[in-house]
Amino acid sequence: MRYLVCLVVGVLAGAILAGMYANAMQRRNAWPRALMNVMQHELGAARSAARDGTCAMPSQRRPADHLRLVADDLDAALLPAGAKDRVLSQYIVDFRAAVAAWDAQGPCPRQAEALTTVANACEACHRDYR
Ligand code: HEC
Repeated sequence: MRYLVCLVVGVLAGAILAGMYANAMQRRNAWPRALMNVMQHELGAARSAARDGTCAMPSQRRPADHLRLVADDLDAALLPAGAKDRVLSQYIVDFRAAVAAWDAQGPCPRQAEALTTVANACEACHRDYR
């Protein structure tokens, strides 16, 4: 009986600690993850507009502006203050270049191509850092 009580208490304590840990991890990464989810949404919207041929400027302006703004926050969100990571910084530079190369006023097929380059820049960083 005593062992059973110990077992139950142990399992409960473990579950509580695991929950606290998961919670803390989630909060610590809330900012980078929020940025990522915004980028995913904007990129998805922009890509489908480019694919459907509904990529006239007003509809692409917000995703383009958002991606550019968020790209500027990536260093601060992904690198702890004062930390340096040459490879991560290079991925961020490449990602910004891909976003900058997307002309949100261009013809849809050219936009679709540019957005594929952007998506590849997302994937390149994820392969090493996600
Ligand atoms: C410079 C590196 C880098 C670039 C560029 C990058 N990501 Fe990420 N991404 C990460 C890292 C690191 C994580 C893991 C974040 C965490 O869990 O703390 C991540 C996680 C994610 C997630 C999961 C978020 C969650 O809720 O757990 C999504 C979705 C995502 N990225 C989408 C994108 C999209 C879309 C792009 C391009 C528009 C992109 N990422 C560009 C590094 C990057």
